[in-house]
Amino acid sequence: MLFQRKKPLDLILETAEKRSLKRQLGAFDLTMLGIGAVIGTGIFVLTAVAANKAGPGMMYSFIIAGTVCALTALIYSEIAAMVPVSGSAYTYSYAVLGELIAWMVGWALILEYAVAAGAVSVGWSGYANGFLAHHGFALPDFLLAGPFYTEQLASGETTVRMVDGVAHKGGFNLIAFLLSLLVTMLLVLGTSKSAKVTAVLVMIKIAALTAFVALAFPAVESSNFSPMLPNGWGTPLGGVGVLGAAASIFFAYVGFDAVSTAAEETKNPNRNIPIGLIGSLAICTVFYLLVAYAAVGAMGAQPGGVLSQSKEPLAFVLREIGWPRIGDLVAGAAILALPSVVLMMMFGQTRILFTMSRDGLLPDSLAKVHPKYHTPHVITWITGIFVSFFAAVFPVDILADISNAGTLFAFFMVAAGVMILRKTEPNRARPFRTPLVWIVGPLAMAGCVLLFFSLGWNPTIKFFCFWAVLGLIVYFAYARRRSHLAPGNEHLLHGHSKDPKLAADPLVQEGPNTGP
Ligand code: ALA
Repeated sequence: MLFQRKKPLDLILETAEKRSLKRQLGAFDLTMLGIGAVIGTGIFVLTAVAANKAGPGMMYSFIIAGTVCALTALIYSEIAAMVPVSGSAYTYSYAVLGELIAWMVGWALILEYAVAAGAVSVGWSGYANGFLAHHGFALPDFLLAGPFYTEQLASGETTVRMVDGVAHKGGFNLIAFLLSLLVTMLLVLGTSKSAKVTAVLVMIKIAALTAFVALAFPAVESSNFSPMLPNGWGTPLGGVGVLGAAASIFFAYVGFDAVSTAAEETKNPNRNIPIGLIGSLAICTVFYLLVAYAAVGAMGAQPGGVLSQSKEPLAFVLREIGWPRIGDLVAGAAILALPSVVLMMMFGQTRILFTMSRDGLLPDSLAKVHPKYHTPHVITWITGIFVSFFAAVFPVDILADISNAGTLFAFFMVAAGVMILRKTEPNRARPFRTPLVWIVGPLAMAGCVLLFFSLGWNPTIKFFCFWAVLGLIVYFAYARRRSHLAPGNEHLLHGHSKDPKLAADPLVQEGPNTGP
């Protein structure tokens, strides 16, 4: 039967126990890890995209997207504390919903992580190009953005970008391409972020957002809030209005699930994982709401207006309201801190693909480990080259929306899995129980569906459908037969790969969160 092939939870836990990671992360480290992965291109760049879609009503969009994530964080806390292994939503689905769904979740997580890494690189390039231009090193227009970069009109329609009356289509986003390649190289060399570096970068980001709020608040004018909803609430598949902006700005919250991947390395996970997941999300939400209110109030946020067209909106607002130096510092903070988000996303991607190839669903050779650096270099290079090309070619809003589609699918499946597990394994120990799971679970799923269908049909949902069909073809043509759970492959279970060199998990030593 199609949905019967499941990897028993006990087998998953047994594999995790064998690795016996040092449990050294506490609640503070996890919260920092979550904030480190969350604050990035979403708030620093997509604020402009949200303004273009919703106008001042984007403040509601931040609340709607934050609520869906808060519900999901409660759900993730239960499963992450209960199955404290890496592999995230893919692994949970394998145990509960079976191999086909797990494959589709893993396939969708490629969108969540790899495409998000591309989006953050493109977001970073906006700030980096602004910095270069300010210092007299502006790149030619052709190298500033990919060929699909367009401007959005107030109506939500797109048009070729005009500069001084001349149409520019963009060509190749050089800076985003180079950043993704650089991060790939660092990952191949075994760079992993230490908890200390994460904490420093989080402080820089928080200082930048605090400075923004403190300086923009006094400039808030009530006239900037009207009209509040120039594009209305939005329609299904429309991709504009408050809901369209919520579906895009959801990207700003993505990454809190990174905390769940550190479950194996956490002291007292039943207490600390929920604190890390929910705490990091709560802190980010408070900052986001304040930043959104201050940006709208200080500058106005009408679709097609100056804020909505900026590639470095937070720095732009500060420069416009008379704080050019602080604007430059905020841009500097984004330039310093955003590459670490790219690193975390790409790291997450390599870890998930690694887990999938260890389960036999992807070729073993992908999980080859570099003899000197002990990193899965094959998978890292493949991921990095793809990410660099999307980053060079596509604009940030399209990449972020596609990444959101994959993430919403994965979140939906995790919520379903947690509820199913309450029924099928009611007696399994649950160090953290999602409160009111029969209300929180369905609401989280409904929120994911609402945001998913608020993404535009073209190109986002269309691309997602194409990706899903491709995933099904790969599964039935390859993965299903090669799976270690397939009849005849049982001897490969219990973490034994065909290739003895691959049997050990090299990633164990260098999670994004290990280290002093
Ligand atoms: N939430 C992360 C960001 O906004 C992915 O960059």
